[in-house]
Amino acid sequence: MIEFIDVHKIYKQSDQKVVALDGVSLRVKAGEIFGVLGPSGAGKSTLIRCVNQLEKPTSGSVWVNGQEMTALSGAALRQARQGIGMIFQHFNLLSSRTVAQNIAFPLEVIGYSKLKRKAKVEELLALVGLEGKANAYPAQLSGGQKQRVGIARSLAGEPNVLLSDEATSALDPQTTRSILELLHDLNKRMGLTILLITHEMGVVKHICDSVAILHAGKVVEQGRVSDLAAQPDSLLAQEFFPRRNGYIPPPGAVLATLAFAGEAASQPIFATLARRFDVDIHILNGSVETVGNQRVGQFQVELEGANVKQALEYLHKTKVEVEVH
Ligand SMILES: Nc1ncnc2c1ncn2[C@@H]1O[C@H](COP(=O)(O)OP(=O)(O)OP(=O)(O)O)[C@@H](O)[C@H]1O
Ligand SMILES: [Mg+2]
Repeated sequence: MIEFIDVHKIYKQSDQKVVALDGVSLRVKAGEIFGVLGPSGAGKSTLIRCVNQLEKPTSGSVWVNGQEMTALSGAALRQARQGIGMIFQHFNLLSSRTVAQNIAFPLEVIGYSKLKRKAKVEELLALVGLEGKANAYPAQLSGGQKQRVGIARSLAGEPNVLLSDEATSALDPQTTRSILELLHDLNKRMGLTILLITHEMGVVKHICDSVAILHAGKVVEQGRVSDLAAQPDSLLAQEFFPRRNGYIPPPGAVLATLAFAGEAASQPIFATLARRFDVDIHILNGSVETVGNQRVGQFQVELEGANVKQALEYLHKTKVEVEVH
């Protein structure tokens, strides 16, 4: 649904150059929720704004739904943008317009009749759970309600892609959850493809199908969340399962990370190691998390005993990923 091919974006400010995107290639499949992660200044907002060409890449191409966005301008670009909704951290609502008028705004631009606008606005208000708020002004709404208006407005043009630049970072945890549930629900019910930027690992765990991690304008990791979470050495797993760093095991002990997903997560791994191989296991850190619909676990352990080597070989044969440190 969305593809970036070797995209570079360089901002020029007087005589300074900032490389915001440095050869980004990525693919977002139709109907998935795709998370973009990375530290401040990594280029996340720039990336998302290149999708609908609010920023023009310096080089490379961006495709949405089979259309090369980077080749479009004028009326053709405006038309293509209709298929791409966008929501923002600070909602960007017009304060002098009511909720209904805010949602109707893009419909006025497309040239819907007054009657058609009214029907569509009612449908959108129901979709985001804001029946009864049509005549309220943004100042009379909570943050979560404002974002619901933002979402309704973004869906007015019946897009198949929704872009979200930290849409929940101004909201409290409970409101964040309700907005994420709404996005998840829209994704499932309407098959809406969602590209979202977030700093919250909980968002990634609970609603993202895939992620890309950006560092200094480059994609340093990309893949399905459940696959990356099950790899002991992925950057995403290190975010999900923080490790105890700098720990030195006693002589003779082996320090390892065990990672497992799906079926392997329900096997009695530790009991088997202890019983079959007479290995002592000290758990240093770890947890089992539900990622998407699958259970994924990682444990940092110290193994001791005469048969540690055999125990590790056994783990290799099962679906447990092992990284010995
Ligand atoms: N309009 C602009 N003009 C010049 N430089 C810019 C512009 N927009 C962004 N940059 C620079 O490009 C780099 C990437 O910025 P971007 O806003 O994409 O980062 P980000 O990952 O979204 O960060 P944050 O998490 O803080 O929102 C930064 O160094 C930033 O200063
Ligand atoms: Mg940003």
